[in-house]
Amino acid sequence: GTTLGASAAEKGRYFGAAIAGGRLGDSTYTRILRTEFNSVTAENEMKWDATEPQQGQFNYTNGDRILNEGLSNGSKVRGHALLWHNQEPQWARSMEGSALRNAAINHVTQVATHYKGKIHSWDVVNEAFADGGSGGRRDSNLQRTGNDWIEAAFRAARNADPGAKLCYNDYNTDGINAKSTGIYNMVRDFKSRGVPIDCVGFQSHLGTTIDSTYQANLQRFADLGVDVQITELDVAQGGNQANIYAAVTRACLAVSRCTGITVWGIRDTDSWRTGENPLLFDGSGNKKAAYTAVLNAL
Ligand code: XIL
Repeated sequence: GTTLGASAAEKGRYFGAAIAGGRLGDSTYTRILRTEFNSVTAENEMKWDATEPQQGQFNYTNGDRILNEGLSNGSKVRGHALLWHNQEPQWARSMEGSALRNAAINHVTQVATHYKGKIHSWDVVNEAFADGGSGGRRDSNLQRTGNDWIEAAFRAARNADPGAKLCYNDYNTDGINAKSTGIYNMVRDFKSRGVPIDCVGFQSHLGTTIDSTYQANLQRFADLGVDVQITELDVAQGGNQANIYAAVTRACLAVSRCTGITVWGIRDTDSWRTGENPLLFDGSGNKKAAYTAVLNAL
């Protein structure tokens, strides 16, 4: 193929980008988006603070814009993210206990119901594990409602939208390490007890190296019976950028249950990693060496 999306499709995968509603009026941006990508993720517009700014008052205007941009271009839409300790709305930040648990589960139910039938994969829970060597959960007001908050969220999401693949998504899980092993143990437990989980997202916000166990880590999760996806790929610019992008692409293709790759933005100037130039297109929309490396690896 001659585009990322078409080439990935030839391999039975998608190639997506996170997109921002505020940039959809930029013709260079939308030209690249509609030409190169066949999956979209809302960079911010489907998060809790965006969709439920006041408790019980839902606003889907900006999320729907992302959804409709994707669907009208024939793309898959990844839902990101139902529950996350960051970008909680102000009203939820001060809540604890059963009031927060009920509010969180209601949020999952309402948002997944609104988007029912339209979302390819939902990040049901984002970034719930701690960094470092503990392999345990991250402290948050959600975690303090009880260790079963994650499975409760997955069950609510399944009930609301049985057609969406339900993912757990996290970062610093880009190799076999204590954090990824903690998540691995949770997924294994969920599968053994029938908690509905279909996929694990590996954000892959990478620096100037790639862990030598990157592919093996994807494979061990796939071997549990879940799909794996690269969900937020960006790579610091440096001598290795193109090689790292190619290595991630090859790793996904080598794992039959790796169903797709999403990059976290289109041009370097669109990236949340200001000054790091971590994406596939430069600020003018030109293809970088990293783009060619990915296309050649697909
Ligand atoms: C980032 C967005 O790119 C920024 O625009 C926003 O200010 C903060 O969130 N992990 C995630 C994403 O799961 O939602 C984050 O997106 C990047 C890290």
